[in-house]
Amino acid sequence: MSDQASRLRNLVEERAQEEAKAREIGELYFDVAEDTRVIAITSGKGGVGKTSLAVNLAVGLQLAGQKVMLIDADIGMANVNLLMGSVTNRSLIDLLNDDIELEDVVENGVEGVKYISGVAAIEATLNLNRNEQKKLHKKLSRCSEFANIIIIDTGAGLNRNVIEFILAAEEVLLITTPEPTAHADAYAVIKAYTTYTERRNIKLVINRIREEEEYEDVAEKMNQTTKKFLGISIDYLGYIYDDKAVLEAVHRQEPFITANPKSPAARCVSALVKSLLSGERMGSVSKGWRGFLDRLFGY
Ligand SMILES: Nc1ncnc2c1ncn2[C@@H]1O[C@H](COP(=O)(O)OP(=O)(O)OP(=O)(O)O)[C@@H](O)[C@H]1O
Ligand SMILES: [Mg+2]
Repeated sequence: MSDQASRLRNLVEERAQEEAKAREIGELYFDVAEDTRVIAITSGKGGVGKTSLAVNLAVGLQLAGQKVMLIDADIGMANVNLLMGSVTNRSLIDLLNDDIELEDVVENGVEGVKYISGVAAIEATLNLNRNEQKKLHKKLSRCSEFANIIIIDTGAGLNRNVIEFILAAEEVLLITTPEPTAHADAYAVIKAYTTYTERRNIKLVINRIREEEEYEDVAEKMNQTTKKFLGISIDYLGYIYDDKAVLEAVHRQEPFITANPKSPAARCVSALVKSLLSGERMGSVSKGWRGFLDRLFGY
């Protein structure tokens, strides 16, 4: 058994014990109101577009009339802050202070998306004593007063923090790109996850595709692999085009969905929003005028 797989199994077992313990006293660590949707965004390989998707999906869902909160659980990187165009002074861990309430760590982002910076905080939550855990749980459970959808930007790979979040979230979006290495790392996440839990709540998003056919191609290959080796087929939420509007928006410290709503990437995120809210499959997204020009001039 690979190291990653056995680590995951241990975690799943530990977590089951913790949950049983928590249930005894009538509480769960990451519990929120039942009508709040919790979506964790993860990947096997780093740098494939988790933060981009988390931020733009949050803003897209908010624009579609939802109340959204984004929690940055990507340790060491203040990415979400940057894309939200502001600097935060406080993070999740400050909630351990008796004088600090949830309101004090929740920031107002683009279009009214609420967000909590998690820089270096999540690591500490894992070593909290029971009292500290209870305190954090109690304060965090009020997140559902701010939002009906909570999006969590996790780090990449199968480390403990990421797995805690994946296992606690109801829905998981696994991001990959058409690159073979990203594909292999995404498969490792699916394998580890499905080997040790019965839940089938992972959906794949393929980022940075050049043409729609590329999406079908990557999706088909991934499905063949998971069917052959794991005996399961994997669900897809959809795709996002490789688009220079993404980097342009990063430089302006703005989400591309508001900076350039007609760009191919923004139109894909809008289609993903629609799919998440309706439960229907993501429709086909044309690349529009820019796509036409790219094809015409051979880009
Ligand atoms: N659809 C896209 N088209 C073009 N560039 C993209 C696209 N998606 C992401 N990028 C670029 O890829 C880089 C990495 O994106 P991002 O920071 O969102 O990845 P990440 O998975 O959060 O990375 P990390 O693992 O370091 O947290 C950024 O420079 C971003 O602009
Ligand atoms: Mg990131």
